[in-house]
This record gives sequence, C-alpha cells and structure tokens, in this order.
Amino acid sequence: MSSQKIIVTGAGGMLGRALVPCLEARGHNVIALPKEDLDITNFPQVQSILTKHKPDLVVHCAAYTKVDQAESEPGLAYHINGYGTENLAVTCNKLDIPMLYVSSDYVFDGEQNSAYTTWDATRPLSIYGKSKLAGEKAVMRHLHKFYIVRTSWLYGPHGKNFVETILNMAEQRKPLRVVSDQFGSPTCTLSLSELIADLVETGRWGVYHATDDGVTNWYEFAKAIVAAYQVDVTPIETSDMPRPATRPKYSVLDKTTLINAIGREPSPWLESLQTYLEMRKSKAPVA
Ligand SMILES: NC(=O)c1ccc[n+]([C@@H]2O[C@H](COP(=O)([O-])OP(=O)(O)OC[C@H]3O[C@@H](n4cnc5c(N)ncnc54)[C@H](OP(=O)(O)O)[C@@H]3O)[C@@H](O)[C@H]2O)c1
Repeated sequence: MSSQKIIVTGAGGMLGRALVPCLEARGHNVIALPKEDLDITNFPQVQSILTKHKPDLVVHCAAYTKVDQAESEPGLAYHINGYGTENLAVTCNKLDIPMLYVSSDYVFDGEQNSAYTTWDATRPLSIYGKSKLAGEKAVMRHLHKFYIVRTSWLYGPHGKNFVETILNMAEQRKPLRVVSDQFGSPTCTLSLSELIADLVETGRWGVYHATDDGVTNWYEFAKAIVAAYQVDVTPIETSDMPRPATRPKYSVLDKTTLINAIGREPSPWLESLQTYLEMRKSKAPVA
C-alpha cells in the first residue's frame, strides 16, 4: 500500500513516541497529536481536527493507562478509554476514515492457561481492562474498516515502564521481589511499532494480537533485565504483593491472524529486550 496520511492520537505517550518515527520512516505523512493538541474526550475538537486533516487512517494510541489507579477513578478511565474512543469512532464513521485501536491483553481473564486467540471470549478483571474493552466495542459498533490491535507488557525508550523501574532499582542496589505467577509476553514499543506499520500497509481489517514472541513471567523477565548486574531477584506470589487491580494470570496472546496478515513472525521477546538494553547502553536515556 502506498504512503498514507495518518493521524496518531496519544503521540506523546510511550507507544506514540516510538510509532510516529517508525511510520515516518516508512514514508507515511504522520500528523502526531499529543493530548495537548487533541483531547479525545473533547468531541467538537475531535470532529474539527479529523475534518480539517481528513487522514487516510487514525491510529489511536491515546489512553488512560494507570491500571491500579483506575480502580479508584473508574469514571475517568471509562471517560477516556470508552467515550474518548467512541468520539473518534463516530467521527471516523461520518468521514469514512478507517481506525486502528490499540487494546490490551487485560480484556481477558487469564484463566484458560493457553494463548488467547482473537475470537476467544473477553472477560476483563479490572476497570482498566473493562474500559479498554468498552473502547473495542465502540470501534466495532461504529466502523467497518478498523484494526483492533491487542498488545501486552509494553516497555520502550519513552516513558515509565517495568524495564526502567527494574533497572533503576538494580542501579540503586535495591532488593528486587517480583511476582512469578503471572505469565505473558513482554513487548518492546519499537518492535510493536514495526508490527503496526506492517499491518496498516495490508488493508486487512480485523482484530489482531501483536506482541513480541514467547512466554515468560515477571520474575524471569526481571532476571533477564538485570542479568548484567550483581543483584538478587526473589520470586514472590501475587498474594504477597496485593494491588488494587487484579491482573490476568496467563494473558499470552495467539498471534496467528497477525502473522497471516503481515507474512512474518514477531521477534522473540528476549531478543527485543537485549536489543533495547544495548541501545539504551549506547545512548543517554531518553526522557
Ligand atoms: N503500557 C502497557 O503495558 C500496555 C499494554 C497493553 C496495551 N497498552 C495500550 O497501548 C496504548 C499505548 O499505551 P502507552 O503505554 O503508550 O501509554 P501512555 O504512555 O500512558 O500513553 C498514553 C497517552 O495518552 C494520553 N492521553 C490520556 N488521556 C488523553 C486524552 N483524553 N486525549 C488524548 N490523549 C490522552 C496520555 O497523556 P498523559 O500521560 O498526559 O495523560 C499519554 O500521552 C494504550 O492504548 C494502552 O492501553 C499498553
């Protein structure tokens, strides 16, 4: 598919900041809109910006992402992830613009102990997961031409994330206690951006799972992150560290529909992590 004019919402966030240069490097004309330039909960603003630019595609990365905090402010989580996404979907429908919505493994309950296919039933356990599912439903309700891309356990060069937290603690020689009974697929925003860029060039609308390849738990992930440091990592159970939001125990996503669409396998998660750690070492940290 040739060059597209693409609006990216949430362009100031961790994924948005990785995705914008990736799409630009593929020759797309990207209009990167951070929250200051497009508040998705402001319906008149959504209408006016989409009408003005009339893009070929909206890639929707903006979201309320504070998983634990959402339990105490559900109204805000639904306002942004549910109604904000609905504002975009309604407007895209009116202007006949396709949309890519980034969603989450947290739409699943994690109880089936095998990878979730794109047609498995959703059952989110947390307010965050429910609000992301509300966004998916808004997209499916209003649009025929959409991609829903569920991803998981993101980290990358721009923003607070598990990898940076673990590295900071290791650098300060702080003891690390990490849960070993939640399983998933860590995914670097740089490799996810390449997967999304591949997908938007296919024009094959639908629901996709896009993560780095392979399965691990947070404890093994932390050990891989600090392999170069002399620090101990202690495995603990989820019940040893209660948090406001319940996480799925096994939220691995089956990527077959994505692999069929883009014609390649995602990178193994450990390879992506090692590439990221090398890149991080060779550069000053990006804020
Ligand atoms: N991080 C993960 O592990 C993970 C896992 C699975 C799926 N996802 C999904 O991946 C996508 C990208 O997440 P991310 O990790 O890049 O999160 P992020 O760093 O929190 O980025 C989200 C961006 O959306 C902005 N935003 C919040 N409310 C907005 C509004 N009303 N209008 C416009 N922008 C608004 C945020 O701005 P402020 O920060 O200023 O509020 C932030 O810049 C999200 O859809 C998320 O649900 C993330």
